[in-house]
Amino acid sequence: MPEISALRKYEVEMGDRMKNVYVIDHPLVQHKLALIRDENTGAKEFRELVEEVAMLMAYEVTRFLPLEEVEIRTPIGPCKAKMIAGKKLGVVPILRAGLGMVNGLLKLIPAAKVGHIGLYRDPDTLSPVEYYCKLPADVQERELIILDPMLATGGSATMAVDLLKRKGANSIKLMCLIASPEGIEALHSKHPDVDIYTAAVDERLNDHGYIVPGLGDAGDRLFGTK
Ligand code: PRP
Ligand code: URA
Repeated sequence: MPEISALRKYEVEMGDRMKNVYVIDHPLVQHKLALIRDENTGAKEFRELVEEVAMLMAYEVTRFLPLEEVEIRTPIGPCKAKMIAGKKLGVVPILRAGLGMVNGLLKLIPAAKVGHIGLYRDPDTLSPVEYYCKLPADVQERELIILDPMLATGGSATMAVDLLKRKGANSIKLMCLIASPEGIEALHSKHPDVDIYTAAVDERLNDHGYIVPGLGDAGDRLFGTK
């Protein structure tokens, strides 16, 4: 069985090329990710955990948001406080599996608009095929966070970024639960401006393009399909 702890070494070996990858190693995220990976975790618990981890990761992904000073009154008296300075956010799940992360983000950033990109991987070529796209009209003004639990070959994430950039998007991040080294390399080589936030960088892909050890098929586990 592959050792998850060996993955840190890979991060070091990647050196400079890992500089736009943020591995969220908070104990709560890692604990919940272990439960998500477990083959004995059923669909209900899997869905709840994916949403919870997405919410915890949102805390880090939104760290870049600028603050502005505001004046408010507490019950005791006047107070200068800080609030987020009007950045417009958008979350863009890649269907289907990205849907499992949406509510986690919306719990923390309820004003975010939600776009949807429908892609599936052709089982033979492993290349993504687009079947749906609906984005906020002002996508070029928004800080966009693409949501997809799995960055495997990187084909789907790269196609999603291509599509968003074609629509004029200027600021894009990717949030996933598990990334493969191959997926990071593929996305980073085409879109080095896209920061990748992940809870883990796993060992490799297998011959079917699945992440090893990964968590299996994220869409199937979320929605109980096979
Ligand atoms: C999975 C996953 C990603 C994609 C990752 O989706 O949710 O979107 O594969 O693989 P890649 O990095 O090699 O492109 P899938 O195509 O299985 O569709 P689904 O979410 O509808 O199950
Ligand atoms: N898609 C998944 O759902 N899991 C993988 O490991 C790779 C692609």
